[in-house]
Amino acid sequence: MDKFDFDQIIERQGTGAEKWDGRENIFGSEDLLPMWVADMDFASPPEVVTALTARAAHGIYGYPLRGDGFYQAAIDWLKRRHGWNVNRDWINSAPGVVSAISIALQAFTSPGDKVLIQPPVYPGFFSAVQKSGRNLVLNPLRQEGRRYVIDFADLEAKLASGVKLFVLCSPHNPVGRVWTKEELVTLGELCLKHGTLVVADEIHSDLVFLRKRHIPFASLSPEFAAIAVTCVSPSKTFNVAGLATALTVIAESRMRARYESVLKAMHVEECNIFGITALEAAYRHGEAWLDSLLIYLETNADFLVSFLRQRNCGIEVEKPEATYLAWLDCRSLGLKGANLPEFFASKAKVGLSDGRRFGEQGFMRLNFACPRALLEEGLERIEAAIKLK
Ligand SMILES: Cc1ncc(COP(=O)(O)O)c(C=O)c1O
Repeated sequence: MDKFDFDQIIERQGTGAEKWDGRENIFGSEDLLPMWVADMDFASPPEVVTALTARAAHGIYGYPLRGDGFYQAAIDWLKRRHGWNVNRDWINSAPGVVSAISIALQAFTSPGDKVLIQPPVYPGFFSAVQKSGRNLVLNPLRQEGRRYVIDFADLEAKLASGVKLFVLCSPHNPVGRVWTKEELVTLGELCLKHGTLVVADEIHSDLVFLRKRHIPFASLSPEFAAIAVTCVSPSKTFNVAGLATALTVIAESRMRARYESVLKAMHVEECNIFGITALEAAYRHGEAWLDSLLIYLETNADFLVSFLRQRNCGIEVEKPEATYLAWLDCRSLGLKGANLPEFFASKAKVGLSDGRRFGEQGFMRLNFACPRALLEEGLERIEAAIKLK
C-alpha cells in the first residue's frame, strides 16, 4: 500500500465544510454527493497536520511574523517544482488569489477600463472584474475537437481595442489545459505589443499530471516578468484553502510598489498564523505526498474518462492535463438552462458546478479530488439517472 491513503473516506459533514455542509444552501438538498467547489476530500500532508497541531498547542495566537523560513520555503518550491528563480522582495502575501486579483485590478486599472478573461473560466474572474466596476472583455477559448485552445486572432483584436489587464488562468480551470511554451510566448508577445499587463493566476500550477509541465508565464523572459503579477498558493495543492494564504510575485519594482500601496491601504498584507505555518510545512515537506496525490488524481481522471466513454452516457469529456476538475460536455443530453444542473442535483443526486457560471451553456464541472469509491458512486449515479431519462 502507498504510504498515503487517498482511498480513506473521511467524514466532512458537520465540520463546517462549504462543499458538504453548504449543500442545502446551494442545491436545496442535503441528499446528494457534493462534487463541486474546488477543494479535496483528502487530509493534507501529515507534515502539515503535525505542524498545525503543534502551533495550535502553543496556545498564543498573536500577530505573526513571516520569517525567513516562510519566504525561503516558497522560493525553494518555485525553483524546485517550476525551475523559476524568484527574489524574496518580489513576494507579497494575500488572503487569497481572488483578493490578489482584486488588489491588482485596483492598483493597475481604473473604473471602466477593459479587463480580458478567457471563458469558460473560473467564476471568480467574472466577479472580481465586474464588482470592481471594470469592463469585462471576453476572449472565449475555442475547441479543436474536444481540446480547448486560445483564439489568438480574437485575442489580438480584443487587445488592440485597448485592454489594460489580462487575467490569465494557467493551468486553466475548468478546461484543464496546461498552456505550452509556444502558447504563452504568443500571448505574452501580444500583451507586450498592446501594452497589456498580465495577472497570471497559477493557483493550479502544482497539480499538473505526468508528461506535462507548467511554465510560469513570468519565467519566460525579463520582458514578460516586467508586465506580470503571478499568483500562487498552497491552497489547492495541499488542500489548505481554509487557511486563506496566497502569494504574489511581481518582479518589476514600480509595479510592485503600486501593488503594495493598495495592499497596505486595505491592510490585508498580513497572513493568518496557521496559513504561514501550513505554507512553510507544505512547501518544505509536502513533496512526496504531492507526488503520490498526483498519481492518484490522474488515475481518477483516467477512470472518469473511461467510465463516461465506455458507458455511453452521452457526456463528452477530455482528460484534463492539470487540476482535479473535469469539464463535462452535456449538450447532447438536451437539457437547457437551469434544467441541466437541476437534473444532476435532483435526479442523479450529485452536486456539480453549473457551466453557466463559467460562461458556457450545456457544461458541468465535476471535482474528482475524492476517494475513488466516491467518484465511482457519483459516476454510477449519473449513469443511472441518464439511463432513466
Ligand atoms: C483559478 C482559480 N483561481 C482562484 C481560486 C480561488 O482562490 P482563493 O481561494 O485563494 O481566492 C480558485 C478556486 O477554485 C481557482 O480555481
